[in-house]
Amino acid sequence: MKKRKGIITVAIDSPAAAGAGTQAKLISENYNLFYLDTGKIYRYIGKLKLNNKEKFSYNFVKKKINSIKLVYLKNKSLLSDEVALSASKIAIDRNIRNIVHKFQQKCAYNPPKRFRGSVLDGRDIITVQVKDAMFKFYITAKLNVRAKRRFEEYQKLNKKITYNEVYKSLKNRDKSDRNRKYGALKKTKDSILINTTKLSKKACFKKIKAIMDKKLNY
Ligand code: C5P
Repeated sequence: MKKRKGIITVAIDSPAAAGAGTQAKLISENYNLFYLDTGKIYRYIGKLKLNNKEKFSYNFVKKKINSIKLVYLKNKSLLSDEVALSASKIAIDRNIRNIVHKFQQKCAYNPPKRFRGSVLDGRDIITVQVKDAMFKFYITAKLNVRAKRRFEEYQKLNKKITYNEVYKSLKNRDKSDRNRKYGALKKTKDSILINTTKLSKKACFKKIKAIMDKKLNY
């Protein structure tokens, strides 16, 4: 694949609800980078599975991914816990992962010209998708803190779900995401650990910005 030269690439891996999306957005705004939340693609496929039980096949997914538009990923229906669980189930499948890889790598290495580079977040971004990223961050937080944050987000969206259900669901997804055969979540030695358990969004971004500015000579 042809790669645009001289761009800034940021790769972030993290367990669910650790704050990676928030930080990725802040990074993209601050450095004018194209942002792709790769979890949304798996959620999109997870929802396709829930809604098209009979039609669902690799070819069906391929067609849908080939014609995907970024606005589809903004759909609020992708934010439910049911869709998240379905996403983590289909994400185990190597063939499904291969279908989305091309799209994700195109976003990472050939972002639209108006951007100076890209930032992707997910589970296998550093380990598989953008192995040569200029910046590699592993963002994490304690499970109970992540569950509390996700529960509060669901409350704002008026989702009927209890804290305990959110906690259990995240725990199950963590287990599946960390132990699956392909694209498992793990921290590489060369990625920078950012633990957001006790950090505010602002404090967390300050840390990341200091690291990036230093390397970019700002
Ligand atoms: O990040 P988010 O919680 O939206 O991701 C939903 C699910 O999609 C994850 O639990 C994971 O199983 C899957 N996923 C993945 N690889 C990525 C991003 C997400 O397998 N790069």
